[in-house]
Amino acid sequence: MDGKTQKLELRREVGLLGGMSLIAGTMIGSGIFMSPQSVIQNIGSPGASLVIWACCGLLAMLASLSYAELGTVIRESGGEYIYILRTAGQPAAFLFIFTSVVVVRPASMAGVALSFAVNAVAPFYQDCPPPDNVVKCVAAVGILLLAVVNCLNVRLAMKLMVFFMAAKLLSLAVIVIGGVVLLVQGNTLNFENSFEGTKLDVSAIGLAFFQCLWSYDGWNNLNSVTEELKNPQVNLPRALLIAIPMVTVLYLLVNVSYLASLTPREMMSSSAVAVTWGNKVLGGLGWFMSVAAALSAFGSLNGTFFSGGRVCFVAAREGHMPDILSMAHVRHLTPSPALIFTTFISLLVLIPGDFQSIVNFFSFTAWFFYGTTLCGLLYLKIRRPDLPRVFKVPILIPILVIMAAVFLVVAPIIDDPKIEYLYVTLFIFSGIIIYVPFIHFKLLPGLLDRVTVFLQLFLEVAPADKNL
Ligand code: ARG
Repeated sequence: MDGKTQKLELRREVGLLGGMSLIAGTMIGSGIFMSPQSVIQNIGSPGASLVIWACCGLLAMLASLSYAELGTVIRESGGEYIYILRTAGQPAAFLFIFTSVVVVRPASMAGVALSFAVNAVAPFYQDCPPPDNVVKCVAAVGILLLAVVNCLNVRLAMKLMVFFMAAKLLSLAVIVIGGVVLLVQGNTLNFENSFEGTKLDVSAIGLAFFQCLWSYDGWNNLNSVTEELKNPQVNLPRALLIAIPMVTVLYLLVNVSYLASLTPREMMSSSAVAVTWGNKVLGGLGWFMSVAAALSAFGSLNGTFFSGGRVCFVAAREGHMPDILSMAHVRHLTPSPALIFTTFISLLVLIPGDFQSIVNFFSFTAWFFYGTTLCGLLYLKIRRPDLPRVFKVPILIPILVIMAAVFLVVAPIIDDPKIEYLYVTLFIFSGIIIYVPFIHFKLLPGLLDRVTVFLQLFLEVAPADKNL
């Protein structure tokens, strides 16, 4: 490292509270307002759906505890990318970053944007599902709007974050309180014989998990920014131990509230369950839920935009990404090239995509890489027990999570082989075609130089440190 990079070292500005909000703020987004009906639909009964929600919370907790150990052994920022790089090596890390930048992140943004759009237009289509084109156009407008805000002004983006966080907590509180009132009034019908109709086939369980795990995704977010966390040895595990159980309990209560007012059939026929709940329980004020759910998704989208540049930056630092994607605008100090690139691909994913398939393929790919990352932890635990560890988890925990990840990735393929899974797998490994010539053998070293210089002038960006 030269003197310049030394000087630009990251400042540690995220405290315990910031860390918790970074986790909970990403986790709570679109899922809890959109996925409960798909979980019930796949698993077949209200009781089993609550079990799935609890199991997913537990899985997120166990996985994140294992990540906490990784984060205290490998202290660099960059999350999965840096852990895979340091344990499995360059090619595997490249495949991860390639898949993540080109499909996983844009797909997750398209999914959240679709949820924003469905909820935003719901009040105008009370009696019928909104037309697909309208939803997609609104989703595209949402993505473009946030792209502009995030390219222009970091402070405004940050302020929006706080506002949306308040909106989602308020709306979840309304649902929970509404549920308590309904239960006290004796609306417990859906909880009788609540396991009737449970489907126990492997693919049903796998898909129910995929839909539910989407709502929990974001549990790994703090690991992407460990270099900016104050006292990470203490704060990383502590933030996880507070935020994840909190979100799990909230999600369970919200689901109980949905079930207290809607029959499973009503839930399954709804395209946005929080809105259906609002129309039934709040009556004339039902639109409130749609607005709140739309704001929550919008906030989560904003958060993904906001943290989007960081992993790109770490990967460019290792020579795995074109330099341009790690640069920042000279005046606005925002990582605009990475933002513009992600926006463009998210809009592409939006054209054919629908919420549920995006969520399924997101979860499939994400858990493939979570499993890979945790194999890295096993490797470190077995082969490098000498490394200093401030935070340790029993080896059983990563083993359990890896088994769950293998089940999640393999079960849907074996039980109901869809050609799309093959495409996703081929796509992940197609990164090798880029890796071998351009990164391993460094053929055409100056290939992108001209493009980089042109884009640098055009976008007014320059290499920057990560602490934007
Ligand atoms: N859990 C979020 C939701 O319910 C989705 C998070 C997408 N993933 C991410 N890393 N941004 O909407």
